[in-house]
Amino acid sequence: MNERSVRVRVPATSANLGPGFDALGIACTIYNEMTLTLTPEPGLNIVARGEGAAYIPTDARNIVWKSIQYLLQRADCMDEFRGAKIRMSNRIPLSRGLGSSATAIVAGLTAANAIVGNPFSRHDLLQLATDIEGHPDNVAPAIYGGFTVNTVTDNYVECFSFLPRILIHFVVMVPDFYLSTKSARQVLPSEVPMKDAIFNISHASMLTAALARGSERHLENAFEDALHQNYRAPLIPGMFDVFAAAKKAGAYGAVLSGAGPCLIAFVPEHRNCTEEVAAAMRKAFRAHDVDARPLHLHLDTKGARILRRKDSLVRG
Ligand code: HSE
Repeated sequence: MNERSVRVRVPATSANLGPGFDALGIACTIYNEMTLTLTPEPGLNIVARGEGAAYIPTDARNIVWKSIQYLLQRADCMDEFRGAKIRMSNRIPLSRGLGSSATAIVAGLTAANAIVGNPFSRHDLLQLATDIEGHPDNVAPAIYGGFTVNTVTDNYVECFSFLPRILIHFVVMVPDFYLSTKSARQVLPSEVPMKDAIFNISHASMLTAALARGSERHLENAFEDALHQNYRAPLIPGMFDVFAAAKKAGAYGAVLSGAGPCLIAFVPEHRNCTEEVAAAMRKAFRAHDVDARPLHLHLDTKGARILRRKDSLVRG
């Protein structure tokens, strides 16, 4: 058996979208790329470049490599491929709430699946990725693209992906500090009042319906949340002030992106106010001594895909 290579591109994601904690997500137009070569000989050679490269383990602890092994085991190909060369070109900010760990998992699974002849469907990959990540709201949009609604029933994951009927520009503010998902989950209570659960079910449903049908007026309050953002606010100085500034400058709403610390504002394309929203959010952060830089993104509609050589944006 010879060595085999593929190159894969995976989009960033923003999970929760306010009320859809652990359930809703979107794919965004900023990408990590990876070239994977599986070899019959044992040995691991990982090189990471770009965002957060210095913090990415290049040994057996690497999450891409763990995901590759997870897939090879299930495909019964562990004996065929014992080693790997992994070249990562990263543009997605690390540990900031833009799904960089989900991207790594999805890149590993998608690339390994392609090399062994695609025995697993996209839905199978979603199940495997959720097993690894623990919740589906980042891995699902990374795999499918679009706006995704995700459920887990007795460990069985389902994803409904669609393209909203409203053109929305995402202004993502990236603060100059990291926050691990683990610490942002530790501050959450294990139980919540029934009224907060009802609040989120109704708002997440409204958000999904408004985007699916293209009803702008129903987005007015649809990004509100009672399940996680209040508890996480102390970890992100000025969070609610930044949300208010974004809305005042013309956004439908703004929320914590995933577990943070990035904040994401949803801005109607037709209002032509994306620069104003970014400036207002930055100023509000600054008032709390936080430096943040904006990313201007749109919805990725394709999700993870294998690249042909000519498609590649960056060289690994
Ligand atoms: N739903 C997750 C959270 C996303 O908010 O903790 C981060 O992985």
